[in-house]
Parts: sequence; structure tokens; C-alpha cells
Amino acid sequence: MSARLLNGKALALEVREELAFRSAQLTAAGERPPGLAVVLIGEDAASTIYVRHKLDACRQAGFHSVAHRLPAETTEQALLALVAELNADHSVDGILVQLPLPDQINETAVIEAIHPDKDVDGFHPYNVGRLAQRLPTMRPCTPAGIMTLLNEAKIPLRGHNAVVVGASNIVGRPMALELLLAGATITVCHRFTRDLERHVRAAEILVVAVGMPGLIRGEWIMPGAVVVDVGINRRPDGTIVGDVEFEEARKRASWISPVPGGVGPMTVAILLRNTLEARLARGH
Ligand code: GUN
Repeated sequence: MSARLLNGKALALEVREELAFRSAQLTAAGERPPGLAVVLIGEDAASTIYVRHKLDACRQAGFHSVAHRLPAETTEQALLALVAELNADHSVDGILVQLPLPDQINETAVIEAIHPDKDVDGFHPYNVGRLAQRLPTMRPCTPAGIMTLLNEAKIPLRGHNAVVVGASNIVGRPMALELLLAGATITVCHRFTRDLERHVRAAEILVVAVGMPGLIRGEWIMPGAVVVDVGINRRPDGTIVGDVEFEEARKRASWISPVPGGVGPMTVAILLRNTLEARLARGH
């Protein structure tokens, strides 16, 4: 068997076209387009690329976007002042502060300073709490993008054994919540998990978000499993790979997301979807 590909690149383009259409409808009616403010502190290579993708996607969809690029030495106080300004800025529906932040800045303080209605990352405790309680909310982009991919492929989740490897606030933890809400039986593996292989072998749905190339051996994949690889790792030769041994895993899985071209583009598409929803929720 060779797995079918979960083609995030293609689906993300479809979602972005739909969002561009809806944004054009707003402006054609004389209304304000959705607006996203992106804040990047420092010059981390990966973050710089992700932020560029997010801003390009906004432009292509006809959204208003503003980029704030600040030096690595920026103080927490200065960043909190910028967030307060963006909270009050009527042209801004969504605020995204790219993570990770430099050591002198307390990430939690910054996330909590973003108004929950403008929290298009879905990281504010208010929005995470609402997700945990199955209430409509701004959902974290990567897990929501993965759910969109799985739904599009009509992959059944209810009652299935889903294993999430990685328990970060950005992906693993909200991913586990999304799968739980979809009726899956979830296991979350993390740095203290004793027998990762045993858990992975039992996974009908496997989502891996760790950032360690080759962490998941292809031979561990249950025949017919659905494999979603969130890892983005640059190898010394410059190629980008995920956390799963792709070629081996592909022989056993029924569906697998490639890296690149799987989950990454969906994260950007959902960020724009959240921004449009934030715009519509504000009403004017
Ligand atoms: N760093 C890695 N992924 C993300 C994301 O989805 N949002 C933000 N703000 N930072 C990130």
C-alpha cells in the first residue's frame, strides 16, 4: 500500500481563494477589509519565513496587513505597549505575535495582553478555555488546519484511537482537544512518555509535532493509519523534512501529510480564516 497524500498546499489555496472572495465582497460593499497585524521580534530565520508567508497570504486575499518588525533586544514593556496600541486600533481585527519570543520577554504576559477577540492565534487562555469547553472560539491555527484537512479527506475520527506526539501550547495540546471534541480516544505523548513506540504502534490517527527529524520510525506505523506530520526540520543539506520517516511510513499508512506541502500551508489559511471571522464578529 502507498498512502494517499493529505495535500495541504492545494486545500489551503482553495480556502484562501474563498477568503479572498469574501474579503472582496466586503470591500465591494464599501466596507473595511479584514486587518491583521503581525509582530516579529528579532531575526530568527524560521520565524522570518513564516511571517513572510502570513503577510503574503494576507496581501493575496485582499486583507489589510501591517508588519511590526522589532529588534531582538525589544523589552517586554515596549511589546506590551505595542499590543495595547493594536488592541485599540480599529483597522486591526487580528494580532499575531510570532513565537518564540526572546528570553527577556514573558510569553504568557504578551499572550494575555492581546484582546481575546483579536487573538487570531487562539492562544489566549480565554480562547483555549472556550475550546476545552466545546464553545465556539478562535481556534489555534495549526490544529484547526489539520482538522480541516482530515475532514476534507473524510477521515472518520469518532471512536478512533488518536495519538498526539508533542504537548506544546501551539500544537500538541490544542490538537488533543480538537481530536477529543471530534470523538476520538486520545493519547498525548511527550518528553516523559516511557514507551513512545508502543503508543505510536497503536495509533489509528497519528499527529506528530515535536521538531525532531526521524523521531517516528516508519516501521512503527500501524497499517492503514492516518499520519499527520507537523514537524518542519532543516537538514544540513538544506532539505526540509518532518518528524516522521516519510518513505517508510508512506508504505504502511492510508493517508500521510507531506513535509513541506502538508500542514504548514493550512496554518496560514486558518490564520486568515480566523482574521475574517474576527472582522465579521466586530461588525464594522
Ligand atoms: N510559532 C510557530 N507557530 C506559530 C503560530 O502558529 N503562531 C505564532 N504566533 N507563533 C508561532
